Amino acid sequence: MGLCLCFFYLSFGTITRNLVIERPQRLVCYYQDDGLELRLLDVPGDLCTHINIGVASLNNLTLALPPSLQKVLQDELPIYHAANPHVKILLWIGGADSGKEFADMVINHARRKEFIRSLKAVMQKYRALDGIDLDWEFPSAYDKERQHFSQLLYEIRQEWNREHRSDRVLSVAVAAPEGIAFFAYNIRELNLYADYVSVMAYDFHFYTKDTPFTGLNAPLYARKNESSIMSTFNINYTIHWWLRNGIEPNRLVVGLPTYGHSFTLVNPFNKRIGAPALGVGECGLGGFTTHSQTCDCGNRYLKPLYEYDEETCSPILSANQEWISYENEKSITCKAQFAKSLNIGGVMIYSLNSDDIKNSCSYIPKTHDNKPVFPLTQAVKAVISQ
Ligand SMILES: *[C@@H]1O[C@H](CO)[C@@H](O)[C@H](O)[C@H]1NC(C)=O
Ligand SMILES: *[C@@H]1O[C@H](CO)[C@@H](O)[C@H](O)[C@H]1NC(C)=O
Ligand SMILES: *[C@@H]1O[C@H](CO)[C@@H](O)[C@H](O)[C@H]1NC(C)=O
Repeated sequence: MGLCLCFFYLSFGTITRNLVIERPQRLVCYYQDDGLELRLLDVPGDLCTHINIGVASLNNLTLALPPSLQKVLQDELPIYHAANPHVKILLWIGGADSGKEFADMVINHARRKEFIRSLKAVMQKYRALDGIDLDWEFPSAYDKERQHFSQLLYEIRQEWNREHRSDRVLSVAVAAPEGIAFFAYNIRELNLYADYVSVMAYDFHFYTKDTPFTGLNAPLYARKNESSIMSTFNINYTIHWWLRNGIEPNRLVVGLPTYGHSFTLVNPFNKRIGAPALGVGECGLGGFTTHSQTCDCGNRYLKPLYEYDEETCSPILSANQEWISYENEKSITCKAQFAKSLNIGGVMIYSLNSDDIKNSCSYIPKTHDNKPVFPLTQAVKAVISQ
């Protein structure tokens, strides 16, 4: 697989007659088939370099695809792939609730083999798939999960080599906080077997009963007020942690959110970052707001307050007791520029679905066809394709 990348660089160099090695600037986009609002065929072919489509889960060691996802893979994927052969489409496996299923599966060779067999069947059935994205949240150092995860990656590669499909893409979605990442991954082995890893550099703060305070979903830097562990919960710190701990820069992809987190304030007059919160906000679903929901919600209030924290590149919307940390074109551009300036492997977006697909924020002139739009993802693309 390392060899493939070399060929890529060499041919690139030959074409441009330029020995400067350009790192591939990936734009990896998550797409969740929701059976409703967003079709794969609505995603412009020139937007993302990679699309992770899912979610496939693990059920008794075997891949389980919801019927609506099967339908997308059957009906839309071949059309999309034929029209946009340069876009890599990966099956997204796992997700936030997948921890136990992964842990049960990796535990020994026989069980991993069973999974790899089911993976083989899925890849044969949906031939337009270019690879997989493993989203185990998260392996731990206990019960040798970290070691078994590395073994799984190795065995998937071995299987693909046997099938003469070393061109397939294997990516891993990884934790940002060092307190998780340190125990979860053998970074040397990620370099060996994963084409790239996407660091989920978001969810640094959201409402829980144990953290009943407002906070920023994806602050770029620590704020001056933050010290000790709090000053590590940001994009800059965690990305540098991954680099310092040996991830090859061209395999490091910075994951950015298009969604926000909402809170309900205890006191509508205390709106600062870190103010006491009673619960998740009314906007969105369970404290998650798509960008369209954030703008729709802001428009419902009489006097919404739009603020921008320059220190962390983070916009905040507040109104009455509602408080939302979200992304807009300015903040996501700022964060994409950070990724670009490090000359690393690219940017990941979570997700296309939570971008302003309904154009509720009116960044883009309204059209008559009401086709989904992707202003935040477009903003990232504009930065990394400069
Ligand atoms: C899991 O699969 C094994 C072998 O395919 C089978 O024997 C077992 O009953 C299954 N367990 C469940 C809970 O479905
Ligand atoms: C920083 O902390 C101090 C004391 O806790 C507080 O008064 C101030 O408002 C905070 N500043 C910001 C920008 O959060
Ligand atoms: C970003 O992180 C690096 C490494 O932890 C640190 O040296 C640097 O000061 C940080 N930058 C800012 C602006 O906080």
